[in-house]
Amino acid sequence: MMKYHVPVLLNESISGLSIKPEGTYLDLTYGGGGHSKKILEKLGAKGKLISFDRDESALSNSRTNNSNLELIKSNFKFFDNHIKERGIDKVDGILADLGVSSHQIDKLERGFTYKGDTKLDMRMNIRDSLDAAEIIDFSPITILSTIPTSPPNITSSSKTTDPDNADLPASTQ
Ligand SMILES: C[S@@+](CC[C@H](N)C(=O)[O-])C[C@H]1O[C@@H](n2cnc3c(N)ncnc32)[C@H](O)[C@@H]1O
Repeated sequence: MMKYHVPVLLNESISGLSIKPEGTYLDLTYGGGGHSKKILEKLGAKGKLISFDRDESALSNSRTNNSNLELIKSNFKFFDNHIKERGIDKVDGILADLGVSSHQIDKLERGFTYKGDTKLDMRMNIRDSLDAAEIIDFSPITILSTIPTSPPNITSSSKTTDPDNADLPASTQ
């Protein structure tokens, strides 16, 4: 069976976190869970890891059953809402392994690859209402030209409801 994702710079990034066994950590991009698993190995009984991914296939693929771990299906730009909801006001470290997972590229129907003849989809969250082909077809050039340069608006996100939450209607955020 093909591996969901092989984490890169695994030991380097984990050693950079200088994990305290009783600390609280965030993995903003769970993917195949390789980094999360390594963090969990270093946590003691009171340590906590909260991991996020907006792709439900990453979370449903998870085989980690560990009471120190909480998995949240969400865009990581809402992480501060989620941790505040849990009464956490500071964490000891945050890991973000930005980009796409091997699974997203390898699955032709996810539309991230040009290795096969498939629709340009590229949705990280398959519940988003618009895929990349539709965005390109329906957006004016003035909007399209801002997409690669607009950073995610993290400061305003604390006022926003999380649209990636499975209980909420699909959205393009
Ligand atoms: C490179 S992979 C992470 C691999 C992971 N570190 C591992 O060890 O397997 C990136 C992951 O981040 C997720 N992702 C990308 N943008 C995201 C976002 N804005 N919010 C939440 N997850 C996101 C993708 O769905 C993908 O699963």
